[in-house]
Amino acid sequence: MAGEKKLFIETLGCAMNVRDSEHMIAELNEKEDYVLTDKASEADLILINTCSVRERPVHKLFSELGSFNKHKKEGAKIGVCGCTASHLGKDIIKRAPYVNFVLGARNVSKITDVLHRDKAVEVDIDYDESQFAFKDFRSSLYKAYINISIGCDKQCTFCIVPKTRGDEISILPELIVNEVRKVVSQGAKEVFLLGQNVNNYGRRFSGDEPKIDFTELLRRVSAVEGLERIRFTSPHPLHMDDAFIEEFAANPKICKSMHMPLQSGSTALLKSMKRGYSKEWFLNRVAKLREMVPDVSISTDIIVAFPGESDEDFEHTLDVARSVKFEQMFSFKYSPRPETEAEKFTNVVDPELASHRLHYLQAMQDEILDSITAQYLGRTFEVFFEELRSDGFVAGRSDNNIMIKVKGSEELLGTIAKVKITKVARLSQTGEIVA
Ligand code: SAH
Ligand code: F3S
Repeated sequence: MAGEKKLFIETLGCAMNVRDSEHMIAELNEKEDYVLTDKASEADLILINTCSVRERPVHKLFSELGSFNKHKKEGAKIGVCGCTASHLGKDIIKRAPYVNFVLGARNVSKITDVLHRDKAVEVDIDYDESQFAFKDFRSSLYKAYINISIGCDKQCTFCIVPKTRGDEISILPELIVNEVRKVVSQGAKEVFLLGQNVNNYGRRFSGDEPKIDFTELLRRVSAVEGLERIRFTSPHPLHMDDAFIEEFAANPKICKSMHMPLQSGSTALLKSMKRGYSKEWFLNRVAKLREMVPDVSISTDIIVAFPGESDEDFEHTLDVARSVKFEQMFSFKYSPRPETEAEKFTNVVDPELASHRLHYLQAMQDEILDSITAQYLGRTFEVFFEELRSDGFVAGRSDNNIMIKVKGSEELLGTIAKVKITKVARLSQTGEIVA
């Protein structure tokens, strides 16, 4: 349409950023008539929704901003949003003066306001967005991301998130359940509940509402008729009490895949990371989970070469990885982050040794994964199809989060079918629909 304004948005980082981007797209669409484009050079507004968990994306940000500025349409605005916006604030405009505004991860509801205030910097991490009624935009018709809390109350010594997203505030259960009802009435079958620490849910609301815990929230969400699948991320291993694991096991709507961010297998390092659990507790929770849900798939995050990590500490991490056999592992070299406790730790691990450890762990995990996927051959899983591929395949996830593709076309999208695996690979399995 002539005269229409175009928005280009690039989203980096976690699922929460994906949802924050959806919120901003919706606000800009309803209140300012912006429509999405996938070409930055055509856009009237270019947004980058940033991540600051590790250092590399921050360097990348400035080179990307430079390139957007060079190729942008005349008069187009550029905004930097998300966690790097929170942590660098006005320095972004100092370093890249053509940036029009900076909007922190906890301020995305102000998008249509900063848009009209050149050089605005809104990065208040105490800002309470927990009851803000965002306009509606969903990137998928079939599954919906739903925030259940904002911020994080933990103080893991390596992590910048509490500094960029502030203290944790839970969103009221009524608001969450209403949102679930709404998306289901619009056709979604799956909801993905989001928080930095979902199973810490319900300890603090913005008012003095009665406390309810995550297990109770799961029960209330699963009571919504028409909803078929519930996923959530990320839970914290410390808060995986028996009641939570039992609900996870017994509730048929909860998908049987659990993210258990280990970080390190060494109890001594876990202590210096302030994770609040030991190697034994983690293994005990895994054992309980595998016993109650034999088909569960467990994913994890691991940080290699945290300051002070000895060969023996690293061996503990390998030991946990070998014994748990994670179905998915996200492993990273430790990256010192500003304003975190660990940034001041002086017992840094030699960078070469750090790379060596990371490669060793990843090679070991690849072997584990090959032996896990080999066992999928000939088995049947229920797959929820959500992605049309250009090569004549339609892909989706099983209840326990295995990515599976079958030959087919768009009629399959949004449906759930039984699929028998006919060919296995490390990251994506191929199968055939069975009656
Ligand atoms: N509670 C959030 C954590 C966000 S950070 C969640 O579980 O999604 C996501 C992952 O990034 C963490 O689990 C951790 O493994 C990794 N990470 C965080 N800070 C890091 C750092 N300073 N260096 C390397 N990896 C880090
Ligand atoms: Fe970061 Fe630990 Fe919270 S990893 S997001 S401080 S649970």
